[in-house]
Amino acid sequence: MINLKNVSKWYGHFQVLTDCTTEVQKGEVVVVCGPSGSGKSTLIKTVNGLEPIQQGNILVNGTEVNNKKTNLAQLRSKVGMVFQHFELFPHLSIIDNLVLAQVKVLKRDKAAARDKGLKLLDRVGLTAHAQKFPGQLSGGQQQRVAIARALCMDPIAMLFDEPTSALDPEMINEVLDVMVELAQEGMTMMVVTHEMGFARKVANRVIFMDEGKIIEDTRKDDFFNNPQSDRAKDFLAKILH
Ligand SMILES: Nc1ncnc2c1ncn2[C@@H]1O[C@H](COP(=O)(O)OP(=O)(O)O)[C@@H](O)[C@H]1O
Ligand SMILES: [Mg+2]
Repeated sequence: MINLKNVSKWYGHFQVLTDCTTEVQKGEVVVVCGPSGSGKSTLIKTVNGLEPIQQGNILVNGTEVNNKKTNLAQLRSKVGMVFQHFELFPHLSIIDNLVLAQVKVLKRDKAAARDKGLKLLDRVGLTAHAQKFPGQLSGGQQQRVAIARALCMDPIAMLFDEPTSALDPEMINEVLDVMVELAQEGMTMMVVTHEMGFARKVANRVIFMDEGKIIEDTRKDDFFNNPQSDRAKDFLAKILH
């Protein structure tokens, strides 16, 4: 579903990604972790073309992300992305946040978009909040809305960039629960997170990054039980204690 081959990227003279190669199969859940500044956000943003690359190749469901002929808006509508900060439109009600891209990008009719929005709002347990504005919801609720909004587009894969790291601790689980459910239903997911409980529960593989390189890319159990590099051992020791 997602295929990165020898991907390198520079910001000016600074090389942020070096020769990153990995793939995510349909239905697979891959957790990306590593120290701050190691390139996790950049890597995940290259997958839906939010960050261009200078070397290598990225295929999403057979589409070349970095081909000039690729329609990036269309690609992004199929690859949902959820960020640390929810990025809902503050001046639109929750339901209107869910309807907007369906109508604008997918050209769905308004009534169908509304039905879909309400269905997904129900799924994340927020039906009662449809008419409220984002500012009236807690961080955890807003992030669940952001996930519902991405799901309204019928994505073929979902990218998450530290979706719980801006949340108060008591709200982290309500968001993780939604993500666990998605994973268990077979959604293809690439998730940047330091929530190792989530990784242990649903990840198939773990990618560990450091200084713009993929240092480890292994099955989950191997990563936790038998990390190969000193840097991954270090990281795990810090994060698990
Ligand atoms: N737009 C940018 N311009 C220049 N440097 C950037 C930009 N975005 C990120 N960086 C740098 O690239 C490195 C990796 O950033 P990032 O992908 O955000 O790492 P992570 O998500 O692992 O914390 C960092 O050193 C960061 O300062
Ligand atoms: Mg980041």
